[in-house]
This record gives sequence, structure tokens and C-alpha cells, in this order.
Amino acid sequence: MAIRKTMVAGNWKMNGSLELVTQLSNAVNSVKSNEIDIVLFPPFPLVPALVDSGVTTGTQTLSENTPGAFTGEVDAQLIKDLGAEYVLVGHSERRSIYKESNATVAAKFARAQQVGLTPILCIGESESEQENGQTEHVVAAQIDAVIEKLGVAALKHSVIAYEPVWAIGTGKTASPEQAQAVHKFIRDKIASLDSDLAQGLTILYGGSVNEKNSELLFAQPDIDGGLIGGASLKADSFTAICNSAKGTV
Ligand code: PGA
Repeated sequence: MAIRKTMVAGNWKMNGSLELVTQLSNAVNSVKSNEIDIVLFPPFPLVPALVDSGVTTGTQTLSENTPGAFTGEVDAQLIKDLGAEYVLVGHSERRSIYKESNATVAAKFARAQQVGLTPILCIGESESEQENGQTEHVVAAQIDAVIEKLGVAALKHSVIAYEPVWAIGTGKTASPEQAQAVHKFIRDKIASLDSDLAQGLTILYGGSVNEKNSELLFAQPDIDGGLIGGASLKADSFTAICNSAKGTV
């Protein structure tokens, strides 16, 4: 079985400051280890400061287009040139507030890989979809949009983050068993097309992860770490979450 890397990623959303870069980079540098990848996703203007601090950095979105007349957008090559290595695509807030479709998300995924950034594909069902038993159908369609555009092999150089929308920023976390069941569904679905790739694929859980629930979530066999929102803004919480991911491979 391929060994997959555990990752703890911090999504700052539209929060943060140069002061927070100092605090969080000191904290992350104090818990860094070969066992896990720790990546922070600050707002765009803070990327150079975070890169300079030695923390692996990503951005929260990118443009699907190549440079041109797209006021307010940010090109993937510039993100890469500034030293970022990862980019979130399809975060639920981008899908719901900015109306990004599965097709747009797939185009962003493709553009990220074109310049050598590693996309983290965020997927997950809404509360009503969950209540109607549509979780598997929704996450399958979100993954299929990428596979149909680029082929399953494109997932090799990516990470998937399963984030049930009803758990994001709500304090309601999926139970470890509930999350594990969806992670297994995702891995099995990809394994039906490429088993080695699926075994090596890092699949993160996200949605109200904190230092109290992270250990049990990360201990699940198909959960390879977390995408952390609110708790990634607090140095103590975030380092505790990172430490809880060590030794779970
Ligand atoms: P949360 O956010 O941890 O604050 O729920 C997770 C995310 O949006 O990635």
C-alpha cells in the first residue's frame, strides 16, 4: 500500500494581518516535522511575508484564466512566482457566495496544475443535501467534474478536502465515523479507476475541526489530516491540532 502524507492546512479566509503572520509562523516553525505537511492559506497580500517566514504557503483561490483583462483576479503563475505551492479550489464559500460551478472549479484545478501549483479540491454537501441522503451523489459529481476534464491521473498531484458545508464555521463537526464513511466512499470511487493513485491520495477532513476533536478524526483510516478554518487563526489551537496529526499515518 502506498504511504500517504498527513497534512494540516489552515485556511485564514478573509482574516489576518502581518502580526498574525509573525505569530502563526513562529508557532508552525516550532511544531514542524517530517511526519506531516503544514500549509497556511492567508489572504493574497500576506503570501510573500508568510513565504519569507519559512512556512509552506498556499492561496485560497486563483483565476482559471491566463493573464489579461480580468480586473481583481490573480494569475496562477504570479502565485507560483511569489513562492506559494498550493491553492484551494472549490471551497464551499467560493461555490456558494461567488457561484463557482463544478466546471469553473475544474478549470481552476487545471490552471493550478499547469503552473505547478498543487490544487486542494474542496468538496462537500449542504445541510439539505445531507438530510436528503445526497451526500455521495454530490461529492461524486464534484470529483467527476475534474476527472471528466482532466482524467483521473490529474488527481495524483492534488489533495482532496471533504468539508460538509453544514459543519463549516458552525461548531457542528461530522462524527469521526460519519466523516470516515464519506472519506472511504471518495477513496473507493477513485480506486475503481486507479487503485494505486487512490491509496496514495491525501484526503483531508474540514468543518469545525479544533484541538478537542482533531485526534479522533485524524485517527480514522481514510482521514489524512484536516483543513482548519477558525482554529487556524489561534496559535495554541493550531499547533495542538498539528501535534495531534503526528503519528496517525
Ligand atoms: P472551520 O472552517 O474550521 O472554521 O469550520 C473550515 C473551512 O472552511 O475550511
